[in-house]
Amino acid sequence: MNGRVSHRLRCLITAGPTREHLDPVRFLSNGSSGRMGYALAEAAAARGWRVDLVSGPVALPPPRGVNVHPVVSAGQMFEMCEPLFVQCDLFFAVAAVADYRPKSVSPEKPGKSGRPRRLVLVPTIDILKTLAARKQPGQIVVGFAAETHDLEARARRKLEEKKLDWIVANDVSRPGLGMNADDNAVLLLGRGGDRLAYGPAPKSAVAGFILGKVAPASETRGNSSL
Ligand code: CTP
Repeated sequence: MNGRVSHRLRCLITAGPTREHLDPVRFLSNGSSGRMGYALAEAAAARGWRVDLVSGPVALPPPRGVNVHPVVSAGQMFEMCEPLFVQCDLFFAVAAVADYRPKSVSPEKPGKSGRPRRLVLVPTIDILKTLAARKQPGQIVVGFAAETHDLEARARRKLEEKKLDWIVANDVSRPGLGMNADDNAVLLLGRGGDRLAYGPAPKSAVAGFILGKVAPASETRGNSSL
């Protein structure tokens, strides 16, 4: 990490949705396919980086040369990421993490009663914000913001509030782009004032663009596998 220039860069990536179970068969989740995170993992491994991919439930094959750590819930995703974050040079939080989970999980599948049912939700941990607060000098933290409106303002707020180095914003209201699509168009905002637009392009190309911009200077100096 800090000051080391001749080691293989390590990156940690979260990807896909999380599932927050109500009972053994029902859960709250979202439509994330995991494709952007998996494309980033594949592109990082192709650059010679050591990649840990902490993935929610997706229907994608494991990318070549990547250590995949499957998880289900936000809580499990955080527990898996915690020790890996300490060792990584770059952290990409691409996962669409559920913001809430049911307060209690029924151990059995309840039958229907025909009456309205009240569901009490409690917040999940913000994985990105929690880990970014523990950032050590030399570590680079990149968040993602999938927005339906006020794209740049909302992304900038997350960049600042979560103390990120970079945020990748994308407009999920555009048909055929972003969540659960093959292509993406992104706006990359940096803590230092950078503002770069890219796409629409396949997610593999978007991944290459992002890595090229956020990679630390030490990559070119020290990574012999390039
Ligand atoms: N994120 C996370 N853990 C959470 C929620 C979000 O790590 N519990 C990360 C996502 O992986 C993403 C970034 O935070 O990199 C922004 O996620 P997003 O869902 O856009 O924003 P939220 O912080 O959840 O805010 P809001 O739902 O109000 O837009």
